[in-house]
Amino acid sequence: MNDQPSDMRSPHAPMWRGLMHAYREFLPVTEKTPFVTLCEGNTPLVHAPRLAEIIAPDIELYLKFEGANPTGSFKDRGMTLAVSKAAEEGATVGICASTGNTSASAAAYCAVAGIRCVVLLPQNAIALGKLAQALVEGATVLAVEGNFDDALKIVRQLCDKHPIALLNSLNPYRLEGQKTGAFEVCDALGKAPDFHAIPVGNAGNITAYWKGYNEYHAQNRISELPKMLGFQAAGAAPLVLGHDVDKPETVATAIRIGRPARGDEAIAARDNSGGLIHSVPDAEILQAQKLMAASSGIFGEPASAAPIAGITNLAAQKYFSQARAELGRKPVVVATVTGHGLKDPNTAIQIGGEPQVVPASEEAVLRAMQLG
Ligand code: F0G
Repeated sequence: MNDQPSDMRSPHAPMWRGLMHAYREFLPVTEKTPFVTLCEGNTPLVHAPRLAEIIAPDIELYLKFEGANPTGSFKDRGMTLAVSKAAEEGATVGICASTGNTSASAAAYCAVAGIRCVVLLPQNAIALGKLAQALVEGATVLAVEGNFDDALKIVRQLCDKHPIALLNSLNPYRLEGQKTGAFEVCDALGKAPDFHAIPVGNAGNITAYWKGYNEYHAQNRISELPKMLGFQAAGAAPLVLGHDVDKPETVATAIRIGRPARGDEAIAARDNSGGLIHSVPDAEILQAQKLMAASSGIFGEPASAAPIAGITNLAAQKYFSQARAELGRKPVVVATVTGHGLKDPNTAIQIGGEPQVVPASEEAVLRAMQLG
């Protein structure tokens, strides 16, 4: 597969060869497993003091920027393992339902492995960049006349009856790969954060992070576990409401999901960590997306801004000042920025505003800068 030969080293540091190499001892990998990799993982953990000062002055805020993965989202962590295991098992076809990022990632890793990829997308409900990715990466792209939950149901039925590799996060290997996000956070901080904030859609990622923290804890690599803070969009918040949502709606199309496949595990992560799962309205998600980019430089897609909106609300309710008093220091909060803002250019342009048109002269530019 696309495994790098071990003699390919940078003169400065050992070359990063992907999370399967880095965290092999924690993963279900054998000598027979081909490493299908795009050198994913090792994403930046960015300190964001200016953003924290605005939204939650009582915390030390870090952004785990998963948009820096090869296909621009955290899905690559799970996909490297899921497609590697599918290749090991001799799969020739892989399939997933997706709100966009899973399909972009599945298409890319299947391309590496030479496995045919079929993706089912809710028609007219995924961001443009993600659609472009799946199409260009050579997947068979089917726009289903229904929502994500309808598409996932079809995928499950097909995989029950046919020898097709299921690449959604129902596939346990997806979570095994995604848990490495928690490992990287701990490796970078030298400890677990006090809180981990994360968007929740199909609920695979919150489940995977919680698993990762627990595995590091069991190995004594960290002494404390974080509280998990999950955030759903208000129009697609089954785990907050306590029941499925038939017609989920949100501008954050990545998490437009009404029947999360791993909902029970997300609730367990919430309860076992002493955390919470809250919802945030679309208007606050968009505001948070812009604010995050303009005050930290990290441009996440709308779903990725849900935790920033959620942290803002919790701070307003003095949630973190209480934690600060208890700890005797500012609590460390990590928010996973799950996908790149460039995935959804239409929403970005809407919140970004129009450029100001100026004549091509120095004076005009100076005037526009309000300096002359
Ligand atoms: N953020 C982004 C950018 C996502 O694409 C997703 C899920 C989530 C958060 C939520 O993660 O489902 O594990 O709770 N996207 C899936 C997809 C559903 O098909 O791309 P989750």
